[in-house]
Amino acid sequence: MDTEEWSMNAFIFFLLFQFCTSIDTIMPTKFITDGDILVSTGEKFALGFFSPGSSRDRYLGIWYNKISEQTPVWVANRETPLKNSNGGVVTINGDGNLVVFDRNQNSTVLWSTNVTNHHNDKDSIAKLLDSGNLVLIEAHSQRVLWQSFDYPADTFIPGMTLGQSKKMGMRWLLTSWKSRNDPARGNYWYALDPRGSPQFFVYKGLTPYWRSGPWIGKGLNGLPEMARPLVSNVSLVNHDGEVYITYSLFNDSILSRIILDETGSLHVLIWIKAINRWNSFGRAPRDRCDDYGHCGPYGRCTTNDVMECECLPGFEPKSLRDWNLRDWSAGCVRKRVQECGKGEGFLKLSREKVPDTLISLVDNSLNLKECKKKCLSNCSCKAYTNSDFNGGGIGCITWYGELMDIREFINGEQDLYVRVDSIEIANARKSKGFLGKKRNLAILVVAIVVGLFLLVSSGYCLLKKMIKKKGVTENQRNPDMSLFNLATSATSFGDSPGMGLLECR
Ligand SMILES: *[C@@H]1O[C@H](CO)[C@@H](O)[C@H](O)[C@H]1NC(C)=O
Ligand SMILES: *[C@@H]1O[C@H](CO)[C@@H](O)[C@H](O)[C@H]1NC(C)=O
Ligand SMILES: *[C@@H]1O[C@H](CO)[C@@H](O)[C@H](O)[C@H]1NC(C)=O
Ligand SMILES: *[C@@H]1O[C@H](CO)[C@@H](O)[C@H](O)[C@H]1NC(C)=O
Ligand SMILES: *[C@@H]1O[C@H](CO)[C@@H](O)[C@H](O)[C@H]1NC(C)=O
Repeated sequence: MDTEEWSMNAFIFFLLFQFCTSIDTIMPTKFITDGDILVSTGEKFALGFFSPGSSRDRYLGIWYNKISEQTPVWVANRETPLKNSNGGVVTINGDGNLVVFDRNQNSTVLWSTNVTNHHNDKDSIAKLLDSGNLVLIEAHSQRVLWQSFDYPADTFIPGMTLGQSKKMGMRWLLTSWKSRNDPARGNYWYALDPRGSPQFFVYKGLTPYWRSGPWIGKGLNGLPEMARPLVSNVSLVNHDGEVYITYSLFNDSILSRIILDETGSLHVLIWIKAINRWNSFGRAPRDRCDDYGHCGPYGRCTTNDVMECECLPGFEPKSLRDWNLRDWSAGCVRKRVQECGKGEGFLKLSREKVPDTLISLVDNSLNLKECKKKCLSNCSCKAYTNSDFNGGGIGCITWYGELMDIREFINGEQDLYVRVDSIEIANARKSKGFLGKKRNLAILVVAIVVGLFLLVSSGYCLLKKMIKKKGVTENQRNPDMSLFNLATSATSFGDSPGMGLLECR
C-alpha cells in the first residue's frame, strides 16, 4: 500500500466510521466495540463479538456474513472470554498489536496478536479479507505481521494451510472446541506428522485417534471420497522441509469448511442455500475400523460385521481368547518363524488403508515391479505398494517394522502387498487351485443338467408323439376321455420350469 492509498484508506475509514461500522479495517486509536461488526470488502465474512451456543461469555470471532446460521470460523480470545460483559473493545494498541480488552474490567488486555519483532512505528492496521483471513499489516511497508490463518481454531477454510514449514517456523493445526458453548481448546487436535510419508492425525491428548493415511497423489489414502474432487481442490505441498495441504474451491461462490468437532470428528461441510443448512460431504472417523490401531499390530479391520478384525496372511491372533471376546487390541503375531530369503513372496490385499507410514520409505522413481524387488531384497521390509495412485499407480512405498492400523474400504483404490513365507504362498496357491477345481466341478454339473434336460425333453417329445397317436386312435372310441388324458399329460410336463418353452418338431 503506498502512501496515497494509505491516506485514501484512512479518509474512507474516517468517513465510514461516521455513519456505520461496515468497514473492513481497524486503525490505531479507533475502537470496535461489542455490537459493531467489521465486514470484508466482498461482504463474505464479518468480525465482531459473539456468544457461542448457550454461553453468555463474549468472544471476538469471524463468521460468514451472509448466511442465517451464525457459523464462527475463527475465535481470537478463545481461552480468555469476556465474562458476561458487553464491554468488549478491539483496537490497535500503543505497540502496534491488535488487542481485545474489556472496558468494564479495568481495560486489562485479554488477548493480543503479540507481535514483537517489528518496527516500532505503531503504524499497523488490521484488515478482514474476503477469504476470512484477519491480517495485521505494517502500513508503511505493507508487510503482514500476523494473520489469523496462521492460528486456526477448529476450522479449515479455503485459503488456509495445514501442516508445517521449517523455513517459516510455523505449524498449522486445528484444535477442537471444548464444547459447543466453549471455544477454549478441547481434547482433540488435527495435525501433520511429517515423519516417514507425511500423514495427518486427529490426536486425543497425545494419543493418535484417527490417521489420514499418506497422500496418494490425489487425496489422502484414508479419505477415499477426497480422491474424486467435485467442489474443492485439496492438494499437498511437500518440499524442502515444507509439508502442508492447501484447500481451494473450484467456484468461490460455494461456502465450504472442514471442522474438527468437540468429539474429535472431522466434517467436510458445504452450505446449501436452498435449505439454509450445512450439508455433510464426509466425515472421519466414520466407523470403528477408523479408530487408530483398532485391530492391533498386523491386524486388519474389514467390512465384515461379525468378526471385524482379521490377521494379515501368515499371522494369527496373539491371544485367541481376547480375540474371540472381540478385544482385538493385542493384534496378531507370526504363525511361525519366517526365514529370510527362502521362497518368500507377497500377497495382495485390495482397497486398503495402508499401514501407518511412520516406518515407511518413499521412492517416487520406482515402479511397482521395482518396488517389489526392493522390498524382497531387504529382510526387514514387511510390505510395499505404489506411493501415488494417479494413472494406475506410480512410485514406491515400503514398510519396515510393525504394520499398524490397516483397514479395508468398500470403495478405496489402493492395494497393499504383504510379505509372507513360502508356506503361505503355497497355501494361497492351493486355495486358488481349489477354486479352480470348484470351477471344473461347476462346469461338470452344468453339463450333466443340460444333458439331462435334453434327454428328458426328447423323451417328452417322444411321449407326446406317442400320446398323440394313441389319442387319435382312442379318440375314435372315447373322444372325451382321450382329450382329457392328452391335456393332463401335456400340462404336467409343460408346468415344470423350462419345459413350457419346448417345442416338439
Ligand atoms: C485496576 O487498575 C488499577 C491501576 O492499574 C489497579 O490499581 C486496580 O487494582 C485495578 N482493579 C482491578 C479490579 O483489577
Ligand atoms: C505474548 O508473548 C509472550 C512471550 O512470547 C507470552 O509470554 C505471552 O503470554 C503472550 N501474550 C499473549 C496475550 O498471547
Ligand atoms: C489444485 O491446487 C493446486 C495448488 O494450489 C494447484 O497446483 C492445482 O493445479 C489445482 N488443481 C486443480 C484441478 O485446480
Ligand atoms: C459459480 O456458481 C455460481 C452459482 O451457482 C454460478 O452462477 C457461476 O457461474 C459459477 N462460476 C463458475 C466460474 O463456474
Ligand atoms: C533394510 O532397510 C532398512 C530400512 O531402510 C535399513 O535400515 C537396512 O539397512 C536395510 N537392510 C539391508 C540389508 O539393506
